[in-house]
Amino acid sequence: MSAQKNVPGGAVVCRVAIDGPAGAGKSTVAKAVAARLAIEYIDTGAMYRAVGLKLLAEGIGTGPADAERRARMLAETEIDFTDGRVYLDGRDVSGDIRTDEISRMASACSALPAVREKLVALQRAMGERKSVLMDGRDIGSNVFPNAEFKFFLTAAPRERARRRFLELQKKDARISFERVLADIEQRDYDDSHRALHPLVRADGAHEIDSTDMCADEVTELVLGIIRGGPLA
Ligand code: DC
Repeated sequence: MSAQKNVPGGAVVCRVAIDGPAGAGKSTVAKAVAARLAIEYIDTGAMYRAVGLKLLAEGIGTGPADAERRARMLAETEIDFTDGRVYLDGRDVSGDIRTDEISRMASACSALPAVREKLVALQRAMGERKSVLMDGRDIGSNVFPNAEFKFFLTAAPRERARRRFLELQKKDARISFERVLADIEQRDYDDSHRALHPLVRADGAHEIDSTDMCADEVTELVLGIIRGGPLA
């Protein structure tokens, strides 16, 4: 890697931020890039999903009426992301968080200041002393505004919906494409219009439109930029 940062204790860390809307292929590319760089991958969306899962399980809503119960619950909640798995209060919930209902709940709870405050603090701590690649919505703009490398990965909404549809169809053959597209458009709108740290292209981020690219091509493009190749 061509740019790194010295941290107290003599270690050298590099933070890579990959942000973008749902279904742009962030996690596939992020996992592959992190593996090739031999640094840790952290899926911050999974952390919001884990909070959404707990809210649902405890019957706590995202409206003002439940603010106190939410605050109590958050204070007692432990979220961790290690070795590609997300843990909620010590339990691996990586499989349980990949449903449509949890997608909507994660998006709704990610607009709440108390939730963002808690998860952003955890994410910053994770990237404090070791090199990490994080994907999400606000990594380059808010979590690590000084990240050594920032990317904003997009794709046309219909293409993102097509990818998500193929994925979801494996679990539920009755799923409709129009429904998946409508969900993606709603989440795009909500994630980019919330008051706190909305989805934006961070200053200095390399924008990549993956509509007509496969994951391997995007991975190579990202690695080329990180390694200071001709596209940097
Ligand atoms: O990437 P994902 O679809 O798993 O993310 C789920 C939700 O979490 C998404 O709708 C917005 C929210 N999120 C966020 O607000 N900030 C992040 N850094 C990551 C995800």
